[in-house]
Amino acid sequence: MVCLWSFLPCVVNLVLPSSLIEAKNTKLEDVFHWNLVDFNYPDDTSRRKSIMSKQFIPENNLPLGLDVWEDKLFVTVPRWKPGVPSTLNYVSLSGDNKSPKLIPYPDWNSNHLPTGRAEKGNITENEMHIISVFRVRVDACDRLWMLDTGMNDVVGEAQQLQDPRILVYDLHSDFLIHSYTLKSSHIEEGSFFSNIIVDINANDCDGAFAYITDIYGYSIIVYSLRDDESWRVKHHYFYFDPLSSNYSVGGVNFQMRDGIFSLALSAPHEDGFKTAYFHPFSSTNEFSVSTKVFRNKTLATDPHNFDEFKLLGSRGPNTQAGASFLDERSGVIFYTQVNLNGVGCWNSKSKEYGPEYQYLVISDNETFIFPNDLKVDRENNLWVLTDHLPIFIFRSLDLNNINFYIFKGSVKEIIKDTICEIDEY
Ligand SMILES: *[C@@H]1O[C@H](CO)[C@@H](O)[C@H](O)[C@H]1NC(C)=O
Ligand SMILES: *[C@@H]1O[C@H](CO)[C@@H](O)[C@H](O)[C@H]1NC(C)=O
Ligand SMILES: *[C@@H]1O[C@H](CO)[C@@H](O)[C@H](O)[C@H]1NC(C)=O
Ligand SMILES: *[C@@H]1O[C@H](CO)[C@@H](O)[C@H](O)[C@H]1NC(C)=O
Repeated sequence: MVCLWSFLPCVVNLVLPSSLIEAKNTKLEDVFHWNLVDFNYPDDTSRRKSIMSKQFIPENNLPLGLDVWEDKLFVTVPRWKPGVPSTLNYVSLSGDNKSPKLIPYPDWNSNHLPTGRAEKGNITENEMHIISVFRVRVDACDRLWMLDTGMNDVVGEAQQLQDPRILVYDLHSDFLIHSYTLKSSHIEEGSFFSNIIVDINANDCDGAFAYITDIYGYSIIVYSLRDDESWRVKHHYFYFDPLSSNYSVGGVNFQMRDGIFSLALSAPHEDGFKTAYFHPFSSTNEFSVSTKVFRNKTLATDPHNFDEFKLLGSRGPNTQAGASFLDERSGVIFYTQVNLNGVGCWNSKSKEYGPEYQYLVISDNETFIFPNDLKVDRENNLWVLTDHLPIFIFRSLDLNNINFYIFKGSVKEIIKDTICEIDEY
């Protein structure tokens, strides 16, 4: 047996949550980090002009979502506050700068916001402006999916510049190849769309489905690309647990009522459908449902479908999780651990769910404050973005600190000799 962290007791089945064990980050490499992010302006003059006109207010820019495709690491910067010059960006993975400037994707113009206060209707549908994106998803057919919430200055004036819509880019040509505006009947008072998960088999690009989580509408919007049609799925298991709504992150105490947040999809089963493992954010429980339910509009919207959704179990106290992702090769689901400044794992091949079947693969009070997004790429590397979100929202970032990190590690190495490693990888 190999001990993972030399300074910890040598146990494989390390059970955490109740007593937080500080594990230094040895299996995840710090690929990028920033005190503040900057953008790749064509020249210094345009950058200075952008700062003078307050189109760019550096301390108002917080990276949040990530995904990887070939040499591009996509990084979103939602328009939480004014002064975000570009919401959808990437950095090159072949450079040697640890704090590279963000490059707008597909270009500057698409990310452009009108100057001054824009009223709804100023930007027309035909124009391809991307207003605000939280998370993106690269699919097996080399396309980049996102939900543009259409809202600028979320925590301030909350300007809804456009209706929320799904945008899909072709990563080879960088062209916008599809746009779908959510039906107004799918948008409720307070709806907040923070995550998009794409359900696809590589041999059927047109048959893709997208699942968009509405964290305050406690619903999932299912979108079928082939039918260009969407429906709203509701379930009691999408709600938050009030007893799990208290957080303490980076010295900030706050409460969140965020419901259904993330879905991690298994490999397809024999019937062609996958298992969707899901959780509300303010909860320590994990649930599952077959994608057969989501994909069938009749079944998905049938109020008598309650029993199709299953409770897997609880991870234990303090284990509220945000983003999650299933590595198909190992069956391991990785999930963020915001109250523990880390990332946890559970192997979906395990028949059991409970605190003793979880493993905290990383926890670090300095570098892992608010893990906000994670993905596993095609080479089975885990990528994690951490970003001090509560400090950004409730206080303000300390510009002398490194506030944002992007880490990478091989799934094989990360789960080696832990309870998450079930089969030889
Ligand atoms: C947006 O539209 C409003 C009225 O619809 C107009 O007053 C305002 O000048 C427009 N803003 C821009 C930047 O075009
Ligand atoms: C909420 O969290 C804070 C900080 O950890 C703690 O002091 C407080 O007692 C908690 N409140 C409840 C009701 O659990
Ligand atoms: C969808 O679900 C309904 C209700 O369970 C069922 O009758 C129908 O056959 C399903 N449709 C497909 C295409 O599977
Ligand atoms: C890490 O933070 C947690 C909670 O904020 C605290 O209980 C723990 O003692 C900290 N660990 C170290 C090593 O500072």
